[in-house]
Amino acid sequence: MPASVVAGNWKMNTTVSEAVALAAGVKDGASSAGNVELVLCPPFVSLTAVRDAVQGSAVKVGAQNMYHQDSGAFTGEVSPGMLQGLCEYVIIGHSERRQLFCETDESVNDKIKAAQAAGLKPILCVGESLEEREAGKAMDVNSGQVRAGLDGVTDASGLIVAYEPVWAIGTGQAATPGIAAEVMGGAIYEALRGIFASAADQVPLLYGGSMNAGNAGDFAAQDCIHGGLVGGAALQADQFLQVAAAVAAAKA
Ligand code: PGA
Repeated sequence: MPASVVAGNWKMNTTVSEAVALAAGVKDGASSAGNVELVLCPPFVSLTAVRDAVQGSAVKVGAQNMYHQDSGAFTGEVSPGMLQGLCEYVIIGHSERRQLFCETDESVNDKIKAAQAAGLKPILCVGESLEEREAGKAMDVNSGQVRAGLDGVTDASGLIVAYEPVWAIGTGQAATPGIAAEVMGGAIYEALRGIFASAADQVPLLYGGSMNAGNAGDFAAQDCIHGGLVGGAALQADQFLQVAAAVAAAKA
């Protein structure tokens, strides 16, 4: 079975000092998460401070994005090499980046390859819109995003895939565990099997979209769900730790 992981996607929230306080709060309560790997993904400007704040604990750090080139005339962008030493993980292809910042399956694929080449662990985000779900395309959209995002990728080690239905993000309307399991254990897992064969069985699959302390245990009770990618509920240390504790209890 893959490792259990609960990652906090702080999005464009927290100043540096707020980020340090939040990270310290998570570090202080981290033992309540049992064997669940905790990953904090603050804004770029807080990566160094958050890395320092969690030092000496098992809490890991991730970035929310990166560019695929090593260096050069790419104003405003951050390279994989710049993240080395600051974080272990990097979120790639979040739906907000796809929708608001024009990311495509091709650019996501470039970033996944560049992250792996730099020794970073990518958290590949996929998920269908409400329109796509209502048109009966949810399974095809998710398997297509997994296959395109991982085109040419041969190594599954370190890879995490997060299923985040766009209609469930930040809406308070989480998917049901049944819907999530249908997509994750079906379309997403099958696509990973097609790419990585039995190595797919070690890829943690995270649910994301209005996950909170009240519903995390029900998601994690599904065999094909190994944790969560948490937005709103990750901005308070106690709530984030409760999500992780619920996942730990469901997987015990
Ligand atoms: P949410 O965000 O938990 O606030 O819905 C999840 C995400 O976008 O990663």
